[in-house]
Amino acid sequence: MKIGICNDHAGVDYKNQLSEYLSGKGYEIVNFGTDTTDSMDYTDVAHPLASAVENGEVDLGVAFCGTGNGMAMTLNKHTGIRAGLAWSEAIGTLVKQHNNANVLVMPARFIPFSEVIRITDAWLTAEFEGGRHQNRIDKIPVK
Ligand code: RB5
Repeated sequence: MKIGICNDHAGVDYKNQLSEYLSGKGYEIVNFGTDTTDSMDYTDVAHPLASAVENGEVDLGVAFCGTGNGMAMTLNKHTGIRAGLAWSEAIGTLVKQHNNANVLVMPARFIPFSEVIRITDAWLTAEFEGGRHQNRIDKIPVK
């Protein structure tokens, strides 16, 4: 499975650490983020990641910025993206079970890396429950 990862300057370390962790688990990682801590605009990396998920270049995405909000707001402008902001393991599970998030967004400045691992594992292993949650997802796009 291919996972695209993007980050702004606030998420460089976590991007690198998570990429190493996921590579070790057999995932193929595609880096869409910045590799320096120079201040940059999260939009410039979020849009390319969103397009890559939408066109199937990668199967899923993970994004980091300071709070996670800039990434989530940008990613969710794409109709094929359901970017879910998660800051705990339980939310990592629910954002897959209930929202079928195809991009996981985490707030790099507000959680320890150990939580990043727990959230990501929870999201990757949980299964979408469908049913009433699918009905709700179907109503997200603005017609
Ligand atoms: C960068 O300072 C910060 O604004 C950004 O990482 C993110 O938190 C925006 O939502």
